[in-house]
Amino acid sequence: MKLKLMALLLAGWTSVPFAPAIAQTAEPQVVASDRANSPQRPIEFAQAPAPGAALAVMMQGAKLPAGVGLEPANASAIEAAIAAQGFKGEAGDELLLRGIASVPAVVLVGRGEGPQQLREAGGRAAQALRSVRAPVAVLGLSDASDMAEAAFGYALGQYRFDRYKSAATPPPADRVQFVGAQAPAARTEWDARKAHLSAAVALTRDLQSEPANSLHPGSFVARTRAAFAGVPGVTVEVLDDAALRRLGMGAIVGVAQGSPHGARLMLVRYRGAEGAPLALVGKGITFDSGGLTLKPNPGMWQMKADMSGAAAVMGAALSLARSRAPVHVVAVAALAENMPGSTAQRPGDVVRTFGGQTIEIRSADAEGRLVLADAIQYTIDRYRPFALVDIATLTGAASAALGSEFAGLFAREDAVAGRLSGAAAQSGEAVWRMPLHPAYAKAIVSDIADIKNSDATGAPGASAGAHFVGHFVPENVSWAHLDIAGVYWRDSDRPLEPKGASGFGVRLLDTLARSWQAP
Ligand code: BES
Ligand code: MN
Ligand code: ZN
Repeated sequence: MKLKLMALLLAGWTSVPFAPAIAQTAEPQVVASDRANSPQRPIEFAQAPAPGAALAVMMQGAKLPAGVGLEPANASAIEAAIAAQGFKGEAGDELLLRGIASVPAVVLVGRGEGPQQLREAGGRAAQALRSVRAPVAVLGLSDASDMAEAAFGYALGQYRFDRYKSAATPPPADRVQFVGAQAPAARTEWDARKAHLSAAVALTRDLQSEPANSLHPGSFVARTRAAFAGVPGVTVEVLDDAALRRLGMGAIVGVAQGSPHGARLMLVRYRGAEGAPLALVGKGITFDSGGLTLKPNPGMWQMKADMSGAAAVMGAALSLARSRAPVHVVAVAALAENMPGSTAQRPGDVVRTFGGQTIEIRSADAEGRLVLADAIQYTIDRYRPFALVDIATLTGAASAALGSEFAGLFAREDAVAGRLSGAAAQSGEAVWRMPLHPAYAKAIVSDIADIKNSDATGAPGASAGAHFVGHFVPENVSWAHLDIAGVYWRDSDRPLEPKGASGFGVRLLDTLARSWQAP
């Protein structure tokens, strides 16, 4: 009897449809959330504040700006608080007052000068009033561009990733109004570009934040495709694992082969102008465990965001396309999950790339450069870009060298480095140039293959990685490499980047593409 049952169970085991073939299945068994993030405050522009609104006053010095239209009793209560607290109203200063006057809350923010400081003032206002359950009126700006920049900062600063929070009451989402005589012109500026740019940054942050049991190469493609649906001028090409094998892309296929999720290459072209495109290629490792070269446990969870480069190029393309920018770009996501397992690639393996070059795998954890190698060669072969910028969470060394204030910039040509630095200054996403010295290329010389992916000879890691990537970009294509390992994630709130995924690169690449098109 017992034996018979056992035999039955065993026979069933081989055929039951729900018996997992491999320990990690391609889809999660129980979906952890069926919701989107909670709505944020919609951004509006108005001539006068809504009744009952909390106030954010943009200050330039300690005196309330003229013509903000506060009731006299409120104005004098706020002035008394300014004096009592010694508030100076310089850039970065912030004073939150609650239970004062007849408004739910007042925050005074030093607005400083120039677009970046105005954005940050907007972001500070958003974060100070995050939990105030009332509409918000932002006062004190008379110039249309200033209003639009503050609104842009507000949008970036109020981002949240809360779709996995099951709390009963969602956070406040009453509207925020930017109040001033120039409201119509500010709205025009907002609608033309900044609304799209901030929505694109939010998409990038969503993709970065999403856990890797929900976001793998296939679901990255599905979600990104949905974001581009119906946007004019956009065409999408996706190569799945079988297609990548057929085309001989052994490097990206090799990275994915330890995972039940196959690799993908996703190419989104936005053609808003004639001429050769600018190619933006992003590293898209949806989880980097290190593969058989397994990473240590502390911080491994953050490697769910090792696809931040891919998310950034898709965000930039979305912003350009939705705002109908007169540019031609192709954004490329090189997607794979880097997992250990009996089918994973081994140190010592040799793989062959799309272009026929061989790579000796010395570290399964130097996988970003591998997926980029195939992605770059395919992009150049099929799309013939005049220039290519790759962006990747490539090396811990870049983060060790530069900390969290700069992405590492590598370029062969000074003129290219200059373009990137210019876009960085305009967008507020900072870069610092690092050396591509020929001596550091020795790090990738292999004894048995054309090139190897890692070494232990003491060459600086970020430069060695850059050399490896540059090896696949012919000299006649202008090229820049951005290593964002130090900036893709924020450990605490910043005015434009709440704690968590930063969306780094979307603003920088959006700005770059608008000013750098085929000659
Ligand atoms: N994704 C990591 C780099 C990384 C580390 C990004 C920390 C963000 C935060 C990358 O794939 C990696 O593992 N790089 C190795 C390269 C080495 C094996 C040559 C590294 O930095 O140690
Ligand atoms: Mn790695
Ligand atoms: Zn990685």
